Amino acid sequence: MKISRVLVFWALIFGCVGCVQQPPSPAVPQTDSRLEKTYEDLIVGFAQLGAESEWRVANTVSIKETAEQLGVELRFLDGQQKQDNQIAAVRKLIVQRVDVIGIAPIVETGWDEVFQEAKDAGIPIIVVDRRAAVPEDLYASYLGSDFLEEGHKAAQIMAELVDGKANIVELVGTIGSAPANDRYKGFREVLRDYPKMKIIDSESGDFTLARGKEVMKAFLQKHGNKITAVYAHNDDMAVGAIEAIEEYGLRPGVDIKIVSVDAARGAFEAMIAGKLNATVECNPLLGPQFFELALKVVNGQPVPKWVPSIEGVFFPENAAEILPTRKY
Ligand code: AHR
Repeated sequence: MKISRVLVFWALIFGCVGCVQQPPSPAVPQTDSRLEKTYEDLIVGFAQLGAESEWRVANTVSIKETAEQLGVELRFLDGQQKQDNQIAAVRKLIVQRVDVIGIAPIVETGWDEVFQEAKDAGIPIIVVDRRAAVPEDLYASYLGSDFLEEGHKAAQIMAELVDGKANIVELVGTIGSAPANDRYKGFREVLRDYPKMKIIDSESGDFTLARGKEVMKAFLQKHGNKITAVYAHNDDMAVGAIEAIEEYGLRPGVDIKIVSVDAARGAFEAMIAGKLNATVECNPLLGPQFFELALKVVNGQPVPKWVPSIEGVFFPENAAEILPTRKY
């Protein structure tokens, strides 16, 4: 047939997909999928910093539940709020030859040596939740929030609540931690535009309810009715402050406006009760993204140096409607 002769002619001259075999291009590296690990092959170490807040508990649950769902073998170690314990945990995981180590560093500094040890052992590190101030070649990726932006959002909301005029007391998170450093800085950056909003006192409540309450009590004893607003670096400390304000005989959320960070269930309950004015979201449900990164890193696939979480802001107006949908 004429047509088939024409097709054979074209195939011979120009080649034809499906009828003329092309040799594999030497320029494209061929990956052997048989050598790639799957979730079921992965052994992942995780050096958690502790269990100081509702946020942290949710973060731990997310890591553990996701590992179980994916069939990953997880070696989870709790640093109980001490950097030394976390350093020892990383060393233990290096000795155990896990495939990859996740760590939520309690503070920003002091990690160079142990991260270098992991690198020398050929075990990649993924920094989760809180940043570590180390050179970029010492970790594969950082998965976590934009804490500076959380500080900006908190200040902007506060400015609207108090109409640009307030005497603010600040409950700072764990001293030296990335979220405390950035929420402190971000809040002040926005306050530069509001000269009548003054931070009259600032102290660490260590991200816990008990410490937040204690520090707020001391602020009230010292400044009394002069305080018109509280900026808490997390919801647990805000809930502690609410208790202290009520015990002092003032109305939290009314006499003293309160803005905090995390958007945990406790904050929604406080907003529904009219005792908290807003909470800026910080997402702890990092398990799925963490293990996806871990698998890619172990298989030598490219990953971004920072994977930021997407976060919103919540107010009392729709807190009751949203609360049932919250997972932490
Ligand atoms: O690192 C995230 C912070 O740590 C959360 O905002 C706080 O609640 C937690 O303790």
